[in-house]
Amino acid sequence: MSLSSKHLIGLKNVPKEDIELILDTATTFREVLERPIKKVPTLQGKTICNLFFESSTRTRLSFELAQKRLSADTINFSTSTSSTKKGETFKDTVRNIEAMKVDMIVVRHESAGVPEYLTRISQANIINAGDGRHEHPTQALLDMYSIREKLGKLKGLKVCIVGDIAHSRVALSNIYGLQAVGAKVTLCGPKTMIPREIENLGVKVIHDIDKAISEHDVLNVLRIQLEREAGSTIPSLREYHNYFGITSERLEKNNRDVLILHPGPINRGVELSSEVADGPYQIILNQVTNGVAIRMAVLYLLGTRP
Ligand code: CP
Repeated sequence: MSLSSKHLIGLKNVPKEDIELILDTATTFREVLERPIKKVPTLQGKTICNLFFESSTRTRLSFELAQKRLSADTINFSTSTSSTKKGETFKDTVRNIEAMKVDMIVVRHESAGVPEYLTRISQANIINAGDGRHEHPTQALLDMYSIREKLGKLKGLKVCIVGDIAHSRVALSNIYGLQAVGAKVTLCGPKTMIPREIENLGVKVIHDIDKAISEHDVLNVLRIQLEREAGSTIPSLREYHNYFGITSERLEKNNRDVLILHPGPINRGVELSSEVADGPYQIILNQVTNGVAIRMAVLYLLGTRP
């Protein structure tokens, strides 16, 4: 069993079989993470570069840990300490990294399309760790894994993605991935945060948060992306919280069984109240743990692909 592509750029057009292979492989690695010695020799001899042009806590540490757990050699690049500060171009940077005989590149960039561009200028396997507003495939895979782990299935589930859809790469990857495995996807948020014609992707759009809670099995609640000027699309964060914030009162009134996910980082008191962010409905830190297993699965499947 192997993946159909050499790279993981997004979940658009990724076959259901590939997604299921990654999720099932992650189950094996999730078990490794519970052992006293959390390491396997699977990628011994492989060299992986983490190329992060944008800040990250979860994705970067999770990829680094996954690489170490698989016994790969890793090198880390960050813009603030690199020669891009001296004017070196992106292409020259990549060519120099590749000259060091790197097998795989994990890339995060503020511009959509950079991972795809890398596939054209590099021989390495490329993994997208989030590009602009485009896609964040490993985040969606870990979200799907966490839902499946908790509810036992994905097919037929009603999942509502809530909030700042317009600025989100997590939303798009979740839409593609969840639909591929047979889940039904709804989007809920202010009109200004939902792109026009997104229904063409086969999703339903609603603007009533109580309906989102009462009619769905899962809410994947997104961060308001203030660094991407999302603040200018709503009157204020307080107003957003009043109309779309998830609070314990709303959950208890509407649906005591709903499962809450959030990709992090959380704006506490905006998209989630602190009580919900730490409360019984959410599985936010399970998502983070599962993220290591998902990234191990992706690295393993791409790194050992024939
Ligand atoms: N969920 C996520 O991508 O978080 P980071 O930006 O911290 O990597």
